[in-house]
Amino acid sequence: MTTTTKKPIDSSGISFTALYTGAVWHRYGLSDDLLATGQGKLLYQLMTPFEAVSKAVIGGNIRTFLLQRHLVIDHLIEKQITENGITQVLEIACGMSPRGIRLREKFPMIHMVEADLPGMAKRKAASLMAAGRLGQHHQVTPIDILADQGELQLEQVIDRVFDNQEPILVITEGLTAYFHLDTISGFWSRLAAALHQRPGSAYLSETYMMPKQPLLRVPLKTLGGLLGTATRAQVSFHFDGDEQAREHLSGCGFAAVKVHNPESFYGVLPIPESRSDPMIRVIEAAC
Ligand SMILES: C[S@@+](CC[C@H](N)C(=O)[O-])C[C@H]1O[C@@H](n2cnc3c(N)ncnc32)[C@H](O)[C@@H]1O
Repeated sequence: MTTTTKKPIDSSGISFTALYTGAVWHRYGLSDDLLATGQGKLLYQLMTPFEAVSKAVIGGNIRTFLLQRHLVIDHLIEKQITENGITQVLEIACGMSPRGIRLREKFPMIHMVEADLPGMAKRKAASLMAAGRLGQHHQVTPIDILADQGELQLEQVIDRVFDNQEPILVITEGLTAYFHLDTISGFWSRLAAALHQRPGSAYLSETYMMPKQPLLRVPLKTLGGLLGTATRAQVSFHFDGDEQAREHLSGCGFAAVKVHNPESFYGVLPIPESRSDPMIRVIEAAC
């Protein structure tokens, strides 16, 4: 008889990318000095020539879609708080994102929990502690979205950090594209099931669309491959279009799914504009 044991996926190779995004938030005036790391600043400098060429040739670059996704997600969070009465927020894969600080400044009544793999969570907690930002209503906790048992498991984290059955808003930014669709769908299904137990809850994330122009597809596939090698992850484009994304998330158990194109926020939010159809979409899924 043969027995097979499934090796858990170690996705900690992705963590260093949070230093780059952290440097972008800082460079664009969205962050606090304490969240800007020396490694992030170095990555920012190293990436600048590549970003400049990409902007000139294809009319957009990584920084374009980072700012689009970050500010559209912020906008939708604010709407969830002001229009839907959300008071509990869980940001998974928080990295060095300043969002928790900004949200607590603007909405002091919210209970904000930031979560990431243990190493990154420890680093974030230390930075927030040094900034005097941690407290009863602003916490950092370790999580692993792939854990199916133990204290890092999504369901256990939610039960531990929110001690009532009120709705919660869950955010993942810059996380899902690092996993095959099958792998991340397992997380989405478990998240939808957990959110259903707290009616009125919602989930915000982003997804990437492979551009239709053949000239852009090859460099983007190459970039995805390089990023996959650097992070030891399976960087993937999950969907070919908005409807496919909407249907897939619905199939994972989310009751109402909207797919937002950053284009609809041009002139409304201070986001950079892409020359052609933006390659990013923000998903808003309610339970
Ligand atoms: C590209 S960074 C995004 C950080 C932040 N959200 C931002 O936009 O600046 C990806 C983050 O995912 C985290 N991560 C990777 N694998 C994870 C997992 N299995 N569970 C939770 N977080 C994970 C990494 O540690 C890292 O902080």
